[in-house]
Amino acid sequence: MGAPSSDLFRAACAAMAQAHAPYSRFPVGAAIRTASGAIHSGCNVENAAYPEGWCAETTAIGHMIMAGERQIEEVAVVAEKMDRITPCGGCRQRLAEFGTADTRVHLCDPGGVVETVRLGDLLPLSFSSSRG
Ligand code: THU
Repeated sequence: MGAPSSDLFRAACAAMAQAHAPYSRFPVGAAIRTASGAIHSGCNVENAAYPEGWCAETTAIGHMIMAGERQIEEVAVVAEKMDRITPCGGCRQRLAEFGTADTRVHLCDPGGVVETVRLGDLLPLSFSSSRG
């Protein structure tokens, strides 16, 4: 599967550097390339009330929405302490809202892309309001 633009990987790494992760000490960065070619990035934002924190992918989606965009073409996710981070279940569903089964998800470590997978393979049989 195609490699992401180095811009997308770099944006994910730059976002990771902004992480607010004092509880897990597990910074994560995500970057989304949309249909327009724009890149929207985000980091995880934790909270002293642990369940109130959220993931890097969720922040990136918020930025994409506020920019008026809705179509995810490609995603890169990176964590400095993991050699191939995969989006959590909730974020897979959030990405599926704005992507397709063929949307590429690049699983990265700080050195670059370790593996590229299809969103449809990460979240088979995802819930969709337009089905059935
Ligand atoms: N985290 C993400 O930001 N994205 C994921 O896909 C998995 C987990 C964050 C949540 C929490 O702040 C930290 O990683 C440890 O779970």
